[in-house]
Amino acid sequence: MDSVVTPPVPALDKPLMHYGKRTLERIAPGTSQPDYRLLDVSPLTPHIGAEIEGVDLSLPISEELADEIRQALLEWKVLFFRDQHDFDPQSQLALAGLWGEPEPNPFFPKGDTVGVSRLAKDAMAIGTENIWHSDHSFMAAPALGSVLRAVEVPSAGGDTMWADMAAAYDNLTETMKDRIENLTAEHDWVPSWGALMTESQITAHRANLPAVEHPVVVRHPRTGRKLLYVNEPFTTRIVGLTDPESRELLNELVLQARIPEYQVRFRWQPGSVAIWDNIATQHYAISDYFPQRRVMERIAIAGAPLS
Ligand code: SIN
Repeated sequence: MDSVVTPPVPALDKPLMHYGKRTLERIAPGTSQPDYRLLDVSPLTPHIGAEIEGVDLSLPISEELADEIRQALLEWKVLFFRDQHDFDPQSQLALAGLWGEPEPNPFFPKGDTVGVSRLAKDAMAIGTENIWHSDHSFMAAPALGSVLRAVEVPSAGGDTMWADMAAAYDNLTETMKDRIENLTAEHDWVPSWGALMTESQITAHRANLPAVEHPVVVRHPRTGRKLLYVNEPFTTRIVGLTDPESRELLNELVLQARIPEYQVRFRWQPGSVAIWDNIATQHYAISDYFPQRRVMERIAIAGAPLS
């Protein structure tokens, strides 16, 4: 009999992403499971992302429905609604309003309705969101959530992915959790958004948007759950570490969002709507459809300083 040949294991000094068992808790252990009377919830993974059926978001949202949507968002972190063909910018503002106050992105083109940004991507505008990130983490009060509506989608591709940052935190080693527990990190838009701007545009925006600091491990503002809060484009350094130490630690931490078990992937259709918890998740817009077009409308939801 032929002997079994074992393929060589790549010789990394220190594997950045471990394999094996993952801890995937949808809600914080000890929290009671919500009950839904009005929503029909179809999970896309066991812990992040659910499609919601039986709701027409173009109609007025009752208090009971609003409560269930808020509960489901805390439970699933990103909710998807399909076939919302009458969902207009006013419905989008109303859905965002269930979670907080709408907040425009300082760099996105404005849509026709106050607070709604229109993101049109075609061959002239190669993707700028195809990197794992949390919206507005470069602000002193990062966005609490966002609502995205598909206006025009390519025939294939253009999906968005979200990663559960509670799972990213839960699966760190105890040594790493101890190491980062009291660290803070600087977040800044200049290395990413600034790369698309002239010097004078950067100077003009800088006056309103200085670099800010947030804890590396934040508590979710509504559930108190611990979350890993660093992301690749906006987190620039860990405060108090030397540059090489900071780079090494950040490299390891930002990679956690790339672990497939923490993620959900959504295929858009015209009329699809998503609302996400922007503190509990990061997202990645897949840029694979050029030269076709993809047009989305987005509203961010204002947050508060994190602790
Ligand atoms: C965003 O990064 O906020 C936009 C996501 C997308 O276009 O899928």
